Amino acid sequence: MSVPICSSMRCFYVEIEKLLEFSVCELIVFKCSFPHVSDMCVLSNPCFPGVECTSKSDGSWECGRCPLGLSGNGTHCEDENECEVEGVCVTECINTDPGFYCLPCPPRYKGTQPYGLGLEEALETRQACVFLFEEVCEPYNPCKDNTHTCHRNAECIYLGLASEVLYKCMCAVGFAGDGFLCGEDSDLDGWPNNRLPCKQNDNCPMLPNSGQEDLDKDGQGDACDPDDDNDNIIDERDNCPLVYNPRQFDSDRDGIGDRCDNCPFESNPLQTDTDDNGEGDACSIDIDGDEVLNDRDNCPLVYNTDQRDTDLDGVGDQCDNCPLLHNPLQLDSDSDLVGDMCDNSQDIDEDGHQNSLDNCPYIANSNQADHDNDGKGDACDHDDDNDGIPDDRDNCRLVPNRDQLDSDGDGSGDACFDDFDNDSIPDALDACPLNQDIGSTDFRKFQVVLLDPKGTTQSDPLWVIRSQGTELLQTANSDPGIALGFDKFSAVDFSVTFYVNTNRDDDYAGIVFAYQSSRRFYVVMWKQVSQAYWEKRPSKAFGTAGVSIKLVNSSTGPGEYLRNALWHTGNTRHQVRTLWHDPNEIGWKDYTAYRMHLIHRPKTGFIRVVVYEGREILSDSGAVYDHTLAGGRLGLFVFSQEHVLFSDLRYECRVKYNVHISVSSMI
Ligand SMILES: *[C@@H]1O[C@H](CO)[C@@H](O)[C@H](O)[C@H]1NC(C)=O
Ligand SMILES: *[C@@H]1O[C@H](CO)[C@@H](O)[C@H](O)[C@H]1NC(C)=O
Repeated sequence: MSVPICSSMRCFYVEIEKLLEFSVCELIVFKCSFPHVSDMCVLSNPCFPGVECTSKSDGSWECGRCPLGLSGNGTHCEDENECEVEGVCVTECINTDPGFYCLPCPPRYKGTQPYGLGLEEALETRQACVFLFEEVCEPYNPCKDNTHTCHRNAECIYLGLASEVLYKCMCAVGFAGDGFLCGEDSDLDGWPNNRLPCKQNDNCPMLPNSGQEDLDKDGQGDACDPDDDNDNIIDERDNCPLVYNPRQFDSDRDGIGDRCDNCPFESNPLQTDTDDNGEGDACSIDIDGDEVLNDRDNCPLVYNTDQRDTDLDGVGDQCDNCPLLHNPLQLDSDSDLVGDMCDNSQDIDEDGHQNSLDNCPYIANSNQADHDNDGKGDACDHDDDNDGIPDDRDNCRLVPNRDQLDSDGDGSGDACFDDFDNDSIPDALDACPLNQDIGSTDFRKFQVVLLDPKGTTQSDPLWVIRSQGTELLQTANSDPGIALGFDKFSAVDFSVTFYVNTNRDDDYAGIVFAYQSSRRFYVVMWKQVSQAYWEKRPSKAFGTAGVSIKLVNSSTGPGEYLRNALWHTGNTRHQVRTLWHDPNEIGWKDYTAYRMHLIHRPKTGFIRVVVYEGREILSDSGAVYDHTLAGGRLGLFVFSQEHVLFSDLRYECRVKYNVHISVSSMI
């Protein structure tokens, strides 16, 4: 290949290989094989590469504009520094030769990543990074964008929290695993039929047992092992089904064998042991373990070393249902934990906390969350953590951080990194990431609410707790009753595996939500077959097979009126209103696992109940709206049905997260 080489004097054509070997001066000695050409633009482009060169007839020339991104006189061009233009990038601006670009938006921001050439373009460029929780823009949502890594049989749940974890994966109903891997789970207890790398196989694949208890470690879970302790006495007749005791001694004849009786010489069939020290309350001289003996303890069932008793009624403040009013009898006829003496049930915001005891009387906040303990609930506190930075500007709304340190610049402060409520449970695992009072589903402690305490038609329910409070078994064929958890909720999702482990009877079981008192709550109840209640007074009651959602707003409270009204599918004045009943009237089947899923959003009054059989939806209420109760406690419900197993209990607060809106997000 040949190229023209020019000097101001002459022109030569040289082989390019030679050109490399000689300096321009030396090139002069070469002969040019072409006639003399005077066009300087052709001979020796004097302009900067890429710049147009215009030759003139007089032999002079002119260079055009420097290429985009460069500036100069045309013969000489230099890179423009677009990064000097103010406000091009939100993140760092990188000047390249030529051109510029912005670094991507920081973690948990979504937006553009502009690039371009030249000052003019830079002037028109504005990088936009939108903080994920700003409502103006669709936040980055891996669940929607399908950039998540959940298993195909898992549900991707967008957390949208100010944490590193944006989403979590939950195996769909009918599957179990860690969400990234999910295997079939026939009995819906959270354990896969077959072993997964992330999870053991179910030791009772066809019977819900979320705790996987297996006393004799034979690989067959206690729930489906006819003789858990291998003492050759089958569990049903074993007075210690979990302790090897072939001789079955039972000194106090309470039905609990001596070998497993926490009070072997004191009849206590319920085996209550408040301080969990292995010694039953019936024979303990210090039930709550606070080192004040029962007969001198003003709260024998509640740990209170200080023994404070402000109203001098002999009941310590810690366990007094009216701590400021003398009420030695402690009556609480509506089971709302507020004594009758100080219970006026005036509750403007209908969140279950009467005005005088409500930390936000005018804004419904059933959960009563108050992170700075200033007596003003988060829902009506403009500075939830009392750090002097108003919530709408605080990068850690629930954790005091006056310094607002935010090392990674993601809008969420270091002090609440990955644990927004600083309850030491990471947000992704936290049942209620915005409420330090609730970390995980826990029914280990519950309040028994009897809905027909005086009735003698049936016995009261008998509840057995298993699996660290995530599984409850109700064994008696009982009057209506509730096992009520102590956590308080506003918006909540509650899932329960429902299994009737007998072929006797065909009655009601289900869940209770937004419990505010034994007069006011919602109940989801499910009857196997349609049936009239045998007791026709005080009101006739006919229960129809299928799932019902009912509002209890009873003027009488527990008793025969409420009992019959609960049984009835339909409305009973001053007692119960049926909000929805499954038109298909599908009853539950014996020995069959169902997953019941409740969604309650008190702010809008939205209620929905979905029941799955295996993976299939069996019954779905769709959207049901009722505004009567703005939240409350969760519980399990039975009415005349024995051997109901409530397994793999799971509740989660559902708050739409928004760092900038605190009041509305908490409701
Ligand atoms: C967060 O909780 C821990 C205790 O778990 C406590 O030591 C720490 O001070 C808390 N952080 C703030 C900023 O309050
Ligand atoms: C609930 O009961 C109270 C008192 O009996 C009554 O005033 C109120 O209207 C009832 N609410 C609903 C939604 O039925």
